[in-house]
Amino acid sequence: MSAKQKIILALDVDNGPAALETVDRFGGRVNIYKVGLELFTAEGPSIVRDIQARGKKVFLDLKFHDIPNTVAKAARTAARLGVFMFNIHASAGSEAMRRARDEVVELSLKENLPRPLLIAVTVLTSQNQDELKTEFGIQHSLRTHVKHLAGLAKNAGLDGVVASGQEVSMIKEHLGGKFLIVTPGIRPSSYPPDDQKRTMTPREALRAGADFIVLGRAVTGQKDPEKALEQIESELA
Ligand code: C5P
Repeated sequence: MSAKQKIILALDVDNGPAALETVDRFGGRVNIYKVGLELFTAEGPSIVRDIQARGKKVFLDLKFHDIPNTVAKAARTAARLGVFMFNIHASAGSEAMRRARDEVVELSLKENLPRPLLIAVTVLTSQNQDELKTEFGIQHSLRTHVKHLAGLAKNAGLDGVVASGQEVSMIKEHLGGKFLIVTPGIRPSSYPPDDQKRTMTPREALRAGADFIVLGRAVTGQKDPEKALEQIESELA
């Protein structure tokens, strides 16, 4: 897979026209767009269809975290929407992940739809070791926690996880190269981390073995987003 096919651009905006303007502006240079909570809450599923109608793939980043039945039904709806990838919090538990996977497989077979990739969120890249301990009472290390949640996701039959670049090689070593890793928190070395705490440069993340990198403010938050993406691409080439 070329570096370009590994780039997912986050459409973190609050309205459809702004999102579609970005999609049109990047044209053939970006193939996968991420629709997250802000845009989806504003526009609903129609924005996903509008992006797909432009020939683009959508990563639906709604991070489902609920009881197994609700997560499974939401997973079915995401699959019917034809997204390329969507995600569930691994901390929703093995049953929620397994039931979501089963629903998606069943629906895809029954309705002859392409099966979306189902990815688990481990520990958000905006969180660090201290927060896990003081806010959630998790005593073991953040790396151990990520490894544990990734293992649960793999056992539940998911395709991969969202994890920070700093945990990529550990997860690949532990769970094998085919278990996909999507890495947000990407910052070229000269950029500020914003609210992200476990960042990596695009090159480091791909070198470590990330299958996809999510680019957000490092591209769309820049004065000249196209130039910012070009710079990242040339760094990756
Ligand atoms: O602008 P920035 O590069 O920080 O954007 C990262 C994007 O990836 C945001 O849309 C954020 O919601 C998402 N994300 C993340 N950490 C995760 C999962 C998704 O930052 N664990």
